[in-house]
Amino acid sequence: MQDLLTSFEDYLQNNLPKSQSFHPYFEAALGEMLNAGGKRFRPMLLLSVVNSKNSLLVQSSLGVALGVEMLHTYSLVHDDLPAMDDAALRRGFTTLHKKYDEVTAILVGDALNSEAFNQIAQAPLNAEVKVELVKLLATDGGINGMIIGQAIDCYFENQKLELDQLEFLHIHKTAKLIAASLRMGAVIANYSLDVQQKLYDFGIDIGLLFQIQDDIIDETATEEEAGKTTQNDGAKNSFVNLLGLEGAIKAADDLALKCENRLNTLDENLQNSLKELLLKYLNRHK
Ligand code: IPE
Ligand code: IPE
Ligand code: MG
Ligand code: MG
Ligand code: MG
Repeated sequence: MQDLLTSFEDYLQNNLPKSQSFHPYFEAALGEMLNAGGKRFRPMLLLSVVNSKNSLLVQSSLGVALGVEMLHTYSLVHDDLPAMDDAALRRGFTTLHKKYDEVTAILVGDALNSEAFNQIAQAPLNAEVKVELVKLLATDGGINGMIIGQAIDCYFENQKLELDQLEFLHIHKTAKLIAASLRMGAVIANYSLDVQQKLYDFGIDIGLLFQIQDDIIDETATEEEAGKTTQNDGAKNSFVNLLGLEGAIKAADDLALKCENRLNTLDENLQNSLKELLLKYLNRHK
């Protein structure tokens, strides 16, 4: 897994988005949040699935993995804007709208969004595969995915949602992009439609678990530990606010167990490839 991460980080360094102009700082701002790091969870999911079937395809998949990370990073840059979560710290650094200005943060987000699809278009993969990848990322990262989740997350601040609405919110906001990352890896690796769907459904549960843990982090971690603004979900329909901290921890424990059981039903290569990446989310108390 370390090899995959190293390959990904090298590729990212060599393919940071560029905009040559006489703007004094737009170019610097463009790559800053991508460069700042983060867990790289989504690209690693994608690459781990590819690697489980055909390690020779990993190299050709790096641009697609970078595309997914770009789209995710754009969502974070916009998520931190004053109109959304109004956060000052991200990935251990001052957020772009604080360091530069709001215009820059909005446009860097826009740029990372369109560049994500450019990265996929330019990957050395079969054209039909790339169309499928674009569809998946546009759907799960777009209107009926992350975007509607974010819209609901922000609109319903200070209004308590029902449990099924809470699930809708978090499936869209977070889980769909995580599920899509797994499925995109499966499309590249040419896994059967059956396996693709199984991975996608598994990804929805992993994504929900990921968001419950993120909500617990907001409640319990310092900004230094999290590398981002915490204690920031006071008005949100977070799992912690709806279930209480103990309830959220219990929900995460239960879901982690469910995910572990599902992981064990995947074919052995997939299990082995995903286990290392998922272990710290599944073995929550070890
Ligand atoms: C944060 O995502 C936003 C959520 C969807 C919970 P990550 O926790 O993956 O953030 P990075 O990529 O590691 O910075
Ligand atoms: C954001 O969720 C999910 C996105 C689509 C970016 P959060 O607002 O909980 O993410 P953090 O905690 O700021 O990283
Ligand atoms: Mg948010
Ligand atoms: Mg936020
Ligand atoms: Mg959060």
